[in-house]
Amino acid sequence: MVGETELQPAPPTPPHAEQRRAEIGAPILTVEDLTIRYGNKVALANASFEVRKHEIFGIVGPANSGKTSFLRALNRMDEFVHTMRVDGRVSFAGRDLSTVRNLYALRRMIGVVFPLPVGLPLSIYDNVALAPRLAGVRNRSDLDETVERCLTRAALWDEVKDRLQSLGSLLSGGQQQRLTIARALSQDPQLLLLDEFSIAVDPVTTMRIEEVLKELRHELTIVLVTNLVQQARRLADRTAFFLNGTCVEVGETERLFAGGAKDQRTADYLEGRFG
Ligand SMILES: Nc1ncnc2c1ncn2[C@@H]1O[C@H](COP(=O)(O)OP(=O)(O)OP(=O)(O)O)[C@@H](O)[C@H]1O
Ligand SMILES: [Mg+2]
Repeated sequence: MVGETELQPAPPTPPHAEQRRAEIGAPILTVEDLTIRYGNKVALANASFEVRKHEIFGIVGPANSGKTSFLRALNRMDEFVHTMRVDGRVSFAGRDLSTVRNLYALRRMIGVVFPLPVGLPLSIYDNVALAPRLAGVRNRSDLDETVERCLTRAALWDEVKDRLQSLGSLLSGGQQQRLTIARALSQDPQLLLLDEFSIAVDPVTTMRIEEVLKELRHELTIVLVTNLVQQARRLADRTAFFLNGTCVEVGETERLFAGGAKDQRTADYLEGRFG
């Protein structure tokens, strides 16, 4: 049997990138002429691009280029930051975000992972169960199932399954970062936003989380803000380059890194000549 199998010609394996392109779907997030201001200060001006279903969309750029502000606009943080003003149009799954009145419903669709783990003074279990409980889930076995599933998807389950009742804030930085990912997944978001998740995480944990993201993109869409250009190269299907509040360019990551950037500033940044 073994000999027979060996005689079979190997099935043609499509190059990784082509396989990925086939999996990526229609636009799920459309950004049109988006301008974000804090008072008179423009943080992002006239940005237009789209994010496609099941892709990892990378955003890179130096400090103060407007990356976090963009994620804030997606999360409708302008409701809480009173100087922040958002103009233009962002639609998600066909829905204009500015018309969404129920921000809890929005947060169920769009999960966010911030750069530094936000240590809620809760047990590991309660960190993940919090949002489902707020959404009305009471049944213990449903909650147990959600907690296990999300911690497993965030590659943390094996490390914490024996101490779910201990405080989340006692975990290591890398574990806390994975806990925030589990928390973000607890409501089955369609879109996951990550802002420089590896800032407080060691390289080994960074690699583990990168593997988690590669798996997750089969189920949801990811916008990944990173100041590690090589991380975008490893993970993102397409990458946007932001600079001083403008979206300079969006392109296939592979092409951008193979010298195919259209704008010289993008090429310079990706090749480490500034930033
Ligand atoms: N709450 C705020 N009030 C006023 N200005 C702000 C506020 N938040 C951000 N800004 C300004 O908006 C611009 C864009 O900031 P933003 O945080 O979006 O950049 P970034 O690309 O995420 O930078 P970094 O890589 O340092 O995280 C900056 O000039 C910043 O100073
Ligand atoms: Mg930022």
